[in-house]
Amino acid sequence: MTKPDFRIFDTADAVAAAVAKHVASVIKAKPQSTLGLATGKTFVPIYRELVQLHQQGLVSFADAASFNLDEYVGLPANHPASFRAYMHEHFFAHVDLPRGAAQLPQTDRDLQSACVAYEHAIADRCGIDLQLLGIGQNGHIGFNEPGSPFDSRTHVATLTESTIAANTSDFPPGERPPGRAITMGIGTILEAREIVLVAIGPNKAQALLEAFERPQSSQNPASALQSHLRVTVYCDQAARPSS
Ligand code: F6R
Repeated sequence: MTKPDFRIFDTADAVAAAVAKHVASVIKAKPQSTLGLATGKTFVPIYRELVQLHQQGLVSFADAASFNLDEYVGLPANHPASFRAYMHEHFFAHVDLPRGAAQLPQTDRDLQSACVAYEHAIADRCGIDLQLLGIGQNGHIGFNEPGSPFDSRTHVATLTESTIAANTSDFPPGERPPGRAITMGIGTILEAREIVLVAIGPNKAQALLEAFERPQSSQNPASALQSHLRVTVYCDQAARPSS
């Protein structure tokens, strides 16, 4: 088992700037990189920084491609809380990543064949160079909730009540997030050549501790990353795991 490279910063803004620089350096080294992208509150300032780097002429995504980790099942295509809408608002609309090169799981068709098609599309691009991950308070990565097998592939996942509660504020008042999503599996994630996981705030400290300072357990899906040789964890002081 390997320990990731931990990079700890005082503020969430400093984390966002450092992660954006990391992504930009990967793209500069290999402009045709395939990125695995995450959504969520953690990534809003990171995409803002990346957009700024792009607008300053410091990074171009023109030859890159991307695959998002996950998408809700059962939302209409134009729903404002879909991850497609999030990506458009925070990133895709502001950078030169070609529209056809930015993929999310397709949840408006037969779900099983959509999962298989997603795996094939990633393989056709020769895999993911850099996978970005947030972490749930229960240790989830993507929507792989506690108990998910470490060798799972892209699949339809059932969200836990705690994940639904954590994501409710992303939805219009009174609307409950869907209970299902298509997510890359943990096995899919582990095949990325490099992984960056980001955690902000005190409510992520316990999940980080269990992921990286304790033995691997399917009860903390992020602990699967101990098996990967190239993981960098970016966090702020509040999320820093103290054992
Ligand atoms: C998002 C995703 C999730 C989030 C996690 C943390 O695409 O797959 O695993 O990264 O739920 O979300 P935030 O950043 O909102 O705390």
